[in-house]
Amino acid sequence: MRKAYQLGFANIEDELVIDKLSVTGKLPEWVEGTLFRNGPGMFKAGNQDYRHWFDGLSMLHKFSFKAGNISYANKFLQCKAYHEAKENNRISYSEFATDPCYSLFDRVKEIFDPKITDSAKVNVARLGGKFVAMGEPSLQMEFDPDTLNSLGVYTYDDKPKQHITTVHPHEVDNEVINLTTRFGRVSSYRFMSRPEGENPQLIASHKVKEPAYLHSFGLSPSYLILTEFPYVVNPLKILFHAKPFIENYVWKPRRGTRIFIFNRKNGTLVKQFEADPFFAFHHINAFERGEELYFDIVTYPDPEIIQSFYLDRIRSEGKKLPGGQIRRFHADMAGNKDISYRILSDEAIELPRFDYEHYHMDSDYRYVYSVGVNKAGNNSFYDQVVKSDLKTEQAKIWHEKNCFPGEPVFLANPNRKSEDDGVNLSVVLDEANGNSFLLILDSVTFTEIARAVIPQPILFGYHGNFYLNN
Ligand code: CO
Repeated sequence: MRKAYQLGFANIEDELVIDKLSVTGKLPEWVEGTLFRNGPGMFKAGNQDYRHWFDGLSMLHKFSFKAGNISYANKFLQCKAYHEAKENNRISYSEFATDPCYSLFDRVKEIFDPKITDSAKVNVARLGGKFVAMGEPSLQMEFDPDTLNSLGVYTYDDKPKQHITTVHPHEVDNEVINLTTRFGRVSSYRFMSRPEGENPQLIASHKVKEPAYLHSFGLSPSYLILTEFPYVVNPLKILFHAKPFIENYVWKPRRGTRIFIFNRKNGTLVKQFEADPFFAFHHINAFERGEELYFDIVTYPDPEIIQSFYLDRIRSEGKKLPGGQIRRFHADMAGNKDISYRILSDEAIELPRFDYEHYHMDSDYRYVYSVGVNKAGNNSFYDQVVKSDLKTEQAKIWHEKNCFPGEPVFLANPNRKSEDDGVNLSVVLDEANGNSFLLILDSVTFTEIARAVIPQPILFGYHGNFYLNN
């Protein structure tokens, strides 16, 4: 049976520039700036299909709010993986779960010079004043915020082909901190810092025999938090590119989840804990109360969620998507107690956002905004937006029939009176009308204030950020 959200995994290759979107409702006057979104723009090259939601080639989207209007533009990220796919009508670069079809000769060549994708599709960041499209291979792409044209590769480290990075750097105190994994004879996790206007610096590193797949990390005022799930890889398999990237990783639950906590100032390993085996993409917030360290993560019992994002499965099965659960971990940094956790939400969530101004500053941070899977339905994809109140453990939900929302970016009202005084911006696929719209929610009541209609569908994306005009 055809799934209602099929359109979100199609090929939408038209690049638009629209000065004024049709808006219903009234936009708050204080919202002035631009929302950039990143995600797949095509799941096909010629007649070859990509296999996984995380494979499609990057398309950037831009929604600019000015004087009560919203303009829109979208453009494929101008990179080699895109140009070669268009010119040769075939998949030419390795993505997350898809490799090109190799001839024997190519296979040998690939071992010595792998064609790793430069289609940086997962997130958008402003690093040292530059707008950068971010992907997991360490080949980030700078782009022009006005035209969305690519301005060239931006790297953190000297051996981009031998390491990967998270797409969730933290930007605090004029410094960008990120976690990379270097594969080699000796592999290592490396926390990199890039103070504004300076070259990247190594701030902590840890040798590892079988690196885990890591998508984010935690940062508190004093600590760097590395949560190593038992979803690990023999580094030789990455270096010799035995299979598509993610398929080299193996779930080894008996290892448990190892949590390494480093001193942020001098990079030393302060504590190491072992927790039950679990998997996650996203850390949320991390904060301290005296010697107590707390950090929140959207967790799953295993990495089945990655399997659920294979396109044949999304398109055909009626199986419900595994739901992420917010766990708050607690580590006593002064004592000898083991690590513990508590569950803070019973809604199935993913793509968490919160008020970044409260990042590791405020132990009373209270709200997480995310997408989720409706309990009453049977959708294999996200069909609602959820506001989780971590204090009451209650949730508010926005849900509309045949609508499939993306990550709800939170934007605080500059004159706010409460943490949640602001709006959430989410790109929603409207299956009944065959297009997408930008939903603007009041973050307090979690009800719609306005929506801006795009005349075509936008494929399901991953992450994005809003930047105020300045
Ligand atoms: Co992410």
